[in-house]
Amino acid sequence: MVSRDVLFRECVSLMDKNGIDSSYFDTLCIFQDIFNERNPLFRPLENVPDDKREIILNLVKRRTDGYPLQYLLGQWEFYGYTFRVNENVLIPRPDTETLIENILEICGKNNLKSPKIADLCSGSGCIAVTLKKQIPDAEVYAVEISEKAVETIKENAELNNVVIHIINADVLKQETALSLSGLDIIVCNPPYLTQYDMDTLQKEVTFEPSIALFGGDDGLDFYRKITLLWRKSLKNNGWIAYEFGDGQHDDVGKILGKNNFYNITFSRDTQNIIRTVTARKQEEL
Ligand SMILES: C[S@@+](CC[C@H](N)C(=O)[O-])C[C@H]1O[C@@H](n2cnc3c(N)ncnc32)[C@H](O)[C@@H]1O
Repeated sequence: MVSRDVLFRECVSLMDKNGIDSSYFDTLCIFQDIFNERNPLFRPLENVPDDKREIILNLVKRRTDGYPLQYLLGQWEFYGYTFRVNENVLIPRPDTETLIENILEICGKNNLKSPKIADLCSGSGCIAVTLKKQIPDAEVYAVEISEKAVETIKENAELNNVVIHIINADVLKQETALSLSGLDIIVCNPPYLTQYDMDTLQKEVTFEPSIALFGGDDGLDFYRKITLLWRKSLKNNGWIAYEFGDGQHDDVGKILGKNNFYNITFSRDTQNIIRTVTARKQEEL
């Protein structure tokens, strides 16, 4: 038998040798998960039963093979809420919290207490569920093409005790866009990686679904099609909010301008990268 303390150091060292930068944090998360304790190192001398040790070393081995920590744990935090994650959904990123801030600001400034919101390309449902938590009277729709992801959205809505409308459909089809109308806000973090990005993915990202990543040769397919197709579903002067990749802001801004959106406003994420845009639909007579 080995003590928690000794095993912890062994795990950190295994991760370090395999180039995992966040070795201490990742090991701590695995220990917290397996011991189901917030501070598993408060009892450093306690012996770890052999079966637990084996489970921990297995997880560490998978992590050193590049498997994402979030999938190993099966859950991750987004905007302070817990979300189930698995290989069917993109792992929620802190960058995407910028979109949440954008929508909360829009609702606050414009006194929208019960907005009708559609989250397109919903994935784990992190955006839709978080918005419903933050704006309880909102009517929130989550639209997602992957049946398996839809199951995860349902789980996450339940886990966080919210009721949202979940639609299993292709956002690039006109009939899907026409199925929703009178929206105050459309929010979307679509797949936006280019072919080059896909060919040069970081190891961890290769475990995420490619349908969640690839946005066409230049990464902009979803912005072009959604902006055009979903315009009609928005109220006059309604808002659209997109997340995009580093360096895509000019192109996404131009797409919005061409489709008669105004007040095109960009925001930076916590790493100071221009990450999101919000814009309003010009009135249609
Ligand atoms: C970049 S992920 C974003 C997931 C989530 N909104 C988030 O921010 O973490 C894009 C999502 O779009 C979904 N998707 C891809 N093509 C789609 C389509 N044509 N219609 C609807 N959803 C689609 C993928 O399955 C994936 O869940």
